[in-house]
Amino acid sequence: MLTRVQVAFHSIFRSPPAFIVRAPGRVNLIGEHTDYNEGFVLPMAIDRAVWIALRPRTDRRVLVHSLDLNLSAAFDLDSLTRGKNRWEEYIKGVAHELQLAHYHLTGWEGILTGDVPRGAGLSSSAALEVATARAFASVSGFEWDALRIARIGQRAENNWLEVQTGIMDQSVSAGAKAGHAFFLDCRSLEYQHIPLPKDIAVVVMDTSTRRGLVDSAYNARRSQCERAAKFFGVKALRDVGVEKIEEEKNKTKNVKGAWLDDVALKRARHVVTENARVLKAVEAMRLNDAVTLGRLFNESHVSLRDDFEVTNDALNWIVEAAQARSECLGARMTGAGFGGCAVALVPKDSAEAFAKAVGAEYRARSGKETAIFVSEAGEGASVV
Ligand code: GLA
Repeated sequence: MLTRVQVAFHSIFRSPPAFIVRAPGRVNLIGEHTDYNEGFVLPMAIDRAVWIALRPRTDRRVLVHSLDLNLSAAFDLDSLTRGKNRWEEYIKGVAHELQLAHYHLTGWEGILTGDVPRGAGLSSSAALEVATARAFASVSGFEWDALRIARIGQRAENNWLEVQTGIMDQSVSAGAKAGHAFFLDCRSLEYQHIPLPKDIAVVVMDTSTRRGLVDSAYNARRSQCERAAKFFGVKALRDVGVEKIEEEKNKTKNVKGAWLDDVALKRARHVVTENARVLKAVEAMRLNDAVTLGRLFNESHVSLRDDFEVTNDALNWIVEAAQARSECLGARMTGAGFGGCAVALVPKDSAEAFAKAVGAEYRARSGKETAIFVSEAGEGASVV
């Protein structure tokens, strides 16, 4: 990727770039649909990223050429307006939010490329947002504060792209440390880098089914969670304990005589139990206990399938194919769901055979293609 972006920059601009920046995609190990409930998440950056080679301009224009789409974008920082090309809107959205947050931006021109599969649940959009912010930070000379930048990326997504995502993807893309998972408290935004278990491979399994985040299902889950939080009389589901959910199942009304529908109760049960699983997963990782971690993966998948209802057949099949292998410590869907990727843990020395066998089983059952790869835990956004 580095060479690709360097060579392309040179051939277009006839000089070396002033900066090369990159920001990774992510795979979430555990803690799904917990971020917008102010809970806990444990993603890691993958070793695939969005790259930008750039140089500053003396005016306030931004000119970007996407190698992968073979499309160019040009806009003025003083007159940002919405357009139709989604990839370009991420860049504008970040510029817009940075300026709203009083960052003084310099114009730039550059080349964009990347190897994060798009729309696969590996946060190619967050990687683009964070890489854009890194590009602006380089030419404009402002300090890199990972979590502040993550908020900017999230706001770009929420306000400019109008997708109500949480803070997880941008945070890990901006702040991850190589070899570590990124344990984030989505309320306080405090985080810790947790080393991955030794000799264990993280295997990403793409179902090749896709769903844009723009459709209503994600936003619907959010409002069901909000409804449940309101019912329990708390700010967010983060504040509800597992016992409370069990109690509630046996009651039909809360103290004020209000009802909580079954759907919202199931959604809440997922969030509350998932938060507890993240904390146990962190504990297991600290003890280098990959067996417990794998078990938590399996439990998370069941909860996402039955209570949160965000899996599709393809995700269930690939997870079942993975879990059926004796070397598999655990597997679950990852990301928003409804398509995209699953993630599994296996001993490093059996990862290759595992990928082959799961790929064959999934293809046979679904009739679909799949890409299965092992990812190291990558480094967060950086200037190369
Ligand atoms: C998407 C969102 C995240 C998070 C996950 C589900 O990736 O961007 O904020 O909500 O879905 O865990």
